[in-house]
Amino acid sequence: MAFFRTINFSEPLPSIAGDGVTLRTPQMTDFSEWAALRETSRDFLTPWEPTWPTDDLTRSAFRRRIRRYAEDLRTDQGYAFLIFRHSNDAMVGGLTLANIRRGVAQAGSLGYWMGLPHIRNGYMTAAVRAVIPFAFATLRLHRLEAACIPTNAGSIRLLENTGFQREGYAREYLCINGIWQDHLLYARLKDAPAP
Ligand SMILES: CC(C)(COP(=O)(O)OP(=O)(O)OC[C@H]1O[C@@H](n2cnc3c(N)ncnc32)[C@H](O)[C@@H]1OP(=O)(O)O)[C@@H](O)C(=O)NCCC(=O)NCCS
Repeated sequence: MAFFRTINFSEPLPSIAGDGVTLRTPQMTDFSEWAALRETSRDFLTPWEPTWPTDDLTRSAFRRRIRRYAEDLRTDQGYAFLIFRHSNDAMVGGLTLANIRRGVAQAGSLGYWMGLPHIRNGYMTAAVRAVIPFAFATLRLHRLEAACIPTNAGSIRLLENTGFQREGYAREYLCINGIWQDHLLYARLKDAPAP
């Protein structure tokens, strides 16, 4: 078993192709489209996300975000992606593999958001299906975890459709929208059969 980091990305991360969508690393040039999509989706997303800092949609905060993503990628701590629709290359949402734990865990946490104008088109299902081989074959993780609030019907359906199994219930697991909230815990293992 590897007890050390198994991958080293000194080059930009290649984009990942899915069914009708492409995932790629965020860049500074994405700022305007990203900020517009997040602003349009604010009321939809904020109940399910950590509290947005007041300056979150500013260019300087986005620059810090890009630097943090680059550092996470360099140090194998996390992998952030934006999701683009094939038909017109429009940005539709985002997905992250965060909190990568190597050593005896070889695990990471999946997070995602879809812009309000693009929900329920199957884009996140396609994005999660596309990132699974990246997580297990490229990053050589053993376990992908996800957690969601019990009332988040879309997220539950998404996880169950993409081969995640419910493993438990964690009380006051994450501070979401300013409140410590209970979460359902899900995971998908490396050799899980395709759903
Ligand atoms: C969860 C989320 C990412 C799903 O994105 P999406 O692109 O709409 O997902 P998909 O279109 O691929 O749909 C996935 C499944 O969930 C179902 N679904 C989506 N939204 C739903 C809702 N509000 N209620 C019930 N089912 C829903 C879809 O019908 C689909 O199931 P099906 O294929 O069996 O019909 C999106 O709703 C979102 O960003 N929510 C707010 C932020 C959030 O919840 N982040 C995750 C926190 S854990």
